[in-house]
Amino acid sequence: MPATVIVGGQWGDEGKAKVVDYLMPHHDVVIRFQGGANAGHTVVNDDGRFAFHQIPSGILYPHVTGILGNGMVIDPFAFLDELKVLIERGIEIDGRLFISSAAHVVMPTHRILDNLYETDIREESIGSTGKGIGPAYSDKYDRRGMRMAAFLLDKENLFNLVRIHVEQNNKFLEYFKMPPLSLKKVASDFANIKDLISHFIVDTQDIIYELKMKGKRIMLEGAQGTLLDIDHGTYPFVTSSSCCVGGALTGTGLSPKDIDRTIGIYKSYTTRVGNGPFPTELTGEVGTTLRERGKEYGTTTGRPRRCGWFDLVASKYSVRLNGFSEIALTKLDVISGLPAVKICTAYSMNGETLTRFPQELSVFHKCEPVYEELPGWGEDEIRVDSFDELPKNARRYIELLEERLGVKISFISTGPARGETIVREAAYSFDKQ
Ligand code: GDP
Ligand code: IMO
Ligand code: MG
Repeated sequence: MPATVIVGGQWGDEGKAKVVDYLMPHHDVVIRFQGGANAGHTVVNDDGRFAFHQIPSGILYPHVTGILGNGMVIDPFAFLDELKVLIERGIEIDGRLFISSAAHVVMPTHRILDNLYETDIREESIGSTGKGIGPAYSDKYDRRGMRMAAFLLDKENLFNLVRIHVEQNNKFLEYFKMPPLSLKKVASDFANIKDLISHFIVDTQDIIYELKMKGKRIMLEGAQGTLLDIDHGTYPFVTSSSCCVGGALTGTGLSPKDIDRTIGIYKSYTTRVGNGPFPTELTGEVGTTLRERGKEYGTTTGRPRRCGWFDLVASKYSVRLNGFSEIALTKLDVISGLPAVKICTAYSMNGETLTRFPQELSVFHKCEPVYEELPGWGEDEIRVDSFDELPKNARRYIELLEERLGVKISFISTGPARGETIVREAAYSFDKQ
């Protein structure tokens, strides 16, 4: 049975979890396929607000099986903390949450090195979330990483793997004149959680295959966003994983044939948290207005997000990379009530007009946005049930984005809650499921 992929079309925090949550009743399985605790995914439902970091956000529905896929890097301690909060809030998890034995472990040394690279080593800080993501993926690709399967070993073999890792990474810490981590302490921390975490760890590639063969419908929950992708994003101001649709295959073991729906999530404007180029960034009053109205503060770090107008050049690029079959446009409420809204249709660089997304950072840094301005619409006028009832200017804004991106906007989100969603029936039907 085919799968749906949810991918962020911008620099993350587009409202992916809100859309996952909205579509989850039509799916049986939810899988995170990349990233780790750097993600902050928020769901607002009748029971309040839930912030997810490593556990897929679709787990709130009792019929759903949740999987942390092989493409992730997992902080086991943070996983247990997140789990505890969910259980305390009455979410029954038993038997329906699995962690891939092939996912990599984020070790305490990874977090230390992540922060050290940011503060002391890099020429310019990336603004990493400090969760150890980059160093954990480095170790994976350097073939020195520890997989979650380590927790399935007996205590002596687990100790040996932890020892190898701590001894190796302590050499890096020593090189950077940092105090080494105590092997005794790390090993005993790992031994203490072994029994708590080991029963979640399985061969998820196999389980996913079985679920697929049983005809279960799968939701693949992307983290971060296309412009933060390690290959296609604004390198080096990116994260360390494949955030595009391709990552959903390598990060789960599914094949291209399994995917029939790729939904790009875009905010009605743009935000970026952390450093790096951002041509449509608004540093003045309008930027502050967007930040305050959109509550644009990081779910993971609490950092204020940089805000700006919708960037069509960057968004067309992310449509192209992912081949989105449809788009969900979120946070329309945040730009409602403004006298006018702007869309960046091209970049201008030294008098030259660019309509393609530049790969070279030196070019990107010099890009100035070229805007098209559209009239605004009233704040309360968007509290409607259908697209046709939206005010004319809001429809014009959405239709212009749709036309230029060449993809149908099937969902329009007008608030954080499940109910604050407009579905355009013609574009999206559930009859395939
Ligand atoms: P994600 O990382 O893509 O899942 O997004 P985040 O959860 O980090 O950030 C999106 C924020 O916007 C969350 O606080 C959501 O509750 C909120 N949100 C989602 N959709 C809407 C919307 O349409 N309007 C408003 N005002 N907030 C929204
Ligand atoms: P969700 O899934 C927004 C950003 C960080 C930093 C860069 C690298 O909630 O959309 P990392 O810790 O990954 O090494 O940081 O990527 N970043 C995100 N920005 N949303 C996220 O996740 C992000 N995860 C990482 O701010 O600029
Ligand atoms: Mg987020």
